[in-house]
Amino acid sequence: MPLIPSSTREIPETGAIPKHIAIIMDGNGRWAKKRFLPRIAGHTQGVEAVRGTIRACIEKGVSYLTIFAFSSENWRRPAEEVRLLMQLFLAALEREITNLHENGIRFRVIGDISKFDSRIISFIQRGEALTAENTRLNFTVAANYGGRWDIMQAIRKMIAENPGLATSFDETDIARYLAMAGAPEPDLFIRTGGECRISNFLLWQLAYTELYFTDTLWPDFDASALNQAIASYQKRERRFGRTSEQIADRQGNENAILNEDRV
Ligand code: IPE
Ligand code: IPE
Ligand code: MG
Repeated sequence: MPLIPSSTREIPETGAIPKHIAIIMDGNGRWAKKRFLPRIAGHTQGVEAVRGTIRACIEKGVSYLTIFAFSSENWRRPAEEVRLLMQLFLAALEREITNLHENGIRFRVIGDISKFDSRIISFIQRGEALTAENTRLNFTVAANYGGRWDIMQAIRKMIAENPGLATSFDETDIARYLAMAGAPEPDLFIRTGGECRISNFLLWQLAYTELYFTDTLWPDFDASALNQAIASYQKRERRFGRTSEQIADRQGNENAILNEDRV
């Protein structure tokens, strides 16, 4: 697998359209509550918002979309909500995999899927295999995912496969084993639902990601909400540790790289 540039080791190429968008889809429960509906109705509507977001990302020319569907801490929810969420996940997989494939989308799941029902696991595996060669959009669902879990599993795997690294390893050695290895780090992070926190999402990968928080509840998130997030992203100056003057100066990149080599 080709190693993807790391934002702390080199300055990634950036453009007006984020290459990779990572989303915490929050606010489904509150969306339902406002309508006097059960929480699951918000989750069901949330799946529709995912479909719309995939379409909008393709139209915008985004290459990677990663969504947080179920965190390693979401098992703490009432058993009935967890059961219904699993049912919804299964139904969505069953219904959408062919669709994703027909639209040229590569589908992947990151997280500890061993904790899921065997039918869910087999749909995930089928979907990943079926869509492995697709390139129009890399669509990744984080399910039973936690940023700390990811870093821990990467270190464990790295040492299991390379016992020699147990005493001395660097960032690149770990990065190779992270669940998102092979994808560029997210350019833009979006969290709907008004909370301003990361909730154990892609801890490692968000190092230099532009963060965008909106009060919009996830089921209401649509192409225009995505456009607003991208418009906010386009106003940011991505310095990656450099000064504004260096960025204004077209030489900035080269100087920074030269200086880095000297230390
Ligand atoms: C996000 O919506 C979906 C999941 C975490 C599965 P929530 O269910 O957290 O909705 P709120 O935050 O209670 O409104
Ligand atoms: C984060 O949302 C996880 C997902 C969207 C899957 P939560 O609603 O679980 O986050 P907290 O508990 O408010 O931090
Ligand atoms: Mg929530």
